[in-house]
Amino acid sequence: MPLANTTASYGSVARALHWLTALLILAAVALALYMQGLPQGTDAEVARVSALYSVHKTIGLAAFATAIVRILWALIQPKPAALHPERRAETFAAEAVHWSLYAAMVVMPVSGWLFHAATDGFAPILWPFGQSLPFVPKSPALAMTFRAIHGLSAKLLYASFALHVLGALKHGLIDRDGTMGRMISGRALSAGPRPSPSRWPALAALVLWAALVSVPVALPPPAARPAAPAPAAAGGNWTVSQGTLAITVRQSQAAIPGSITGWSAAIAYDDQARTGTVLVTIPLARLTIGSVTPQALGPEFLDAARFPTATFRATIAEAGGRLTATGPLSLHGREVPVSLPFTLDIRGDHATMSGQLTLDRRDFGIGANFRDETTVAFPVTIDVTLMAVRK
Ligand code: HEM
Ligand code: HEM
Repeated sequence: MPLANTTASYGSVARALHWLTALLILAAVALALYMQGLPQGTDAEVARVSALYSVHKTIGLAAFATAIVRILWALIQPKPAALHPERRAETFAAEAVHWSLYAAMVVMPVSGWLFHAATDGFAPILWPFGQSLPFVPKSPALAMTFRAIHGLSAKLLYASFALHVLGALKHGLIDRDGTMGRMISGRALSAGPRPSPSRWPALAALVLWAALVSVPVALPPPAARPAAPAPAAAGGNWTVSQGTLAITVRQSQAAIPGSITGWSAAIAYDDQARTGTVLVTIPLARLTIGSVTPQALGPEFLDAARFPTATFRATIAEAGGRLTATGPLSLHGREVPVSLPFTLDIRGDHATMSGQLTLDRRDFGIGANFRDETTVAFPVTIDVTLMAVRK
């Protein structure tokens, strides 16, 4: 069995490397798609997803190592000639797709690796060589860029792979020209001497990949509009004696509960007229939300270092038979009008209120790099209950 290629056949090394990279890449993709849909509600579920991510990363790096060997081997080998060089468009498409697959073999694992190196902690690569890269700082913004490249590249990989397999099927089922046999068993098939290779297919693939990678690099996370300064919380004729401000986000299908302490509310309410005003001031650094508190407060989400306080300035009135607090919620540098319907029970000088409100994180530009709901859902539920005493 010849190891090397000829201009009519693939040697056993090229074939083994082709099928090994194909297997590793398809395994990495299958695992990625599977693990993204898994629940992460309990510790055991989070541990399972983390283990699968580790396997994905390790397989991905094995694919990268194989791809490097494959590329080096291809560089010193003759490439078997296209079987129908007279079909110029088909030959161009086949070669452009081969180049695009070569690009995918590099860009996919490298972007995944850089993403991993720029983040902290979760799901280690299963190897003894360390988890960081010396030239990659830990930076959420950088990590999000690499993540976006990884996700976008996957789409181009899918398209290239689909065209590649369709081409192979066409050769097998319509042309019946033995191309599959050439890659499976190493059969020699010749269409005469190989015409001098054209640079255009490689260039087309390169331009496509360069354009794709430059999109996330060129598009930084959208800058938030500066918020109106938060007015001081003061006044009112009710004093809040206790209360909870609960927040629920959904991550990978599982509800993650959290809460914020240390908030204050200045309430002026006339229980005869059933109208009033309220100013709620919320120190975001006092949020805790399970194991994801640091991420939630970090620059990708609430960015509490830049936007430490959220405020809700509302007018209380009856709307549709229910008491509702309506007004601007200032959060993450944006001001969005919201309505909080609530129940109120006043007995003498003691009031108990409770209400619920669902926000869309996109309205506030929160998690702008998480453009879909695969990991973090768009709606965020806020539950408020409080007890107040008349001053
Ligand atoms: C499992 C599905 C796959 C099938 C049926 C398949 C089939 C083939 C066949 C028949 C050829 C030979 C074409 C010729 O003789 O001109 C080929 C070449 C090639 N395939 Fe695949 N392939 C598959 C998966 C992949 C994957 C996942 C990749 C890379 C990501 C890939 C990358 C390539 C490349 C770059 C070539 C050009 C030859 C070379 O430079 O090694 N293939 N494939
Ligand atoms: C050939 C190699 C690889 C392939 C084909 C591949 C493929 C994929 C795919 C298809 C996804 C889902 C993307 C999406 O739907 O947005 C994904 C996600 C991911 N991959 Fe890879 N990957 C590879 C290598 C790596 C490596 C080497 C690492 C890290 C060392 C890595 C880390 C990740 C992570 C952390 C995610 C989750 C991204 C997220 O949270 O959105 N991957 N990968």
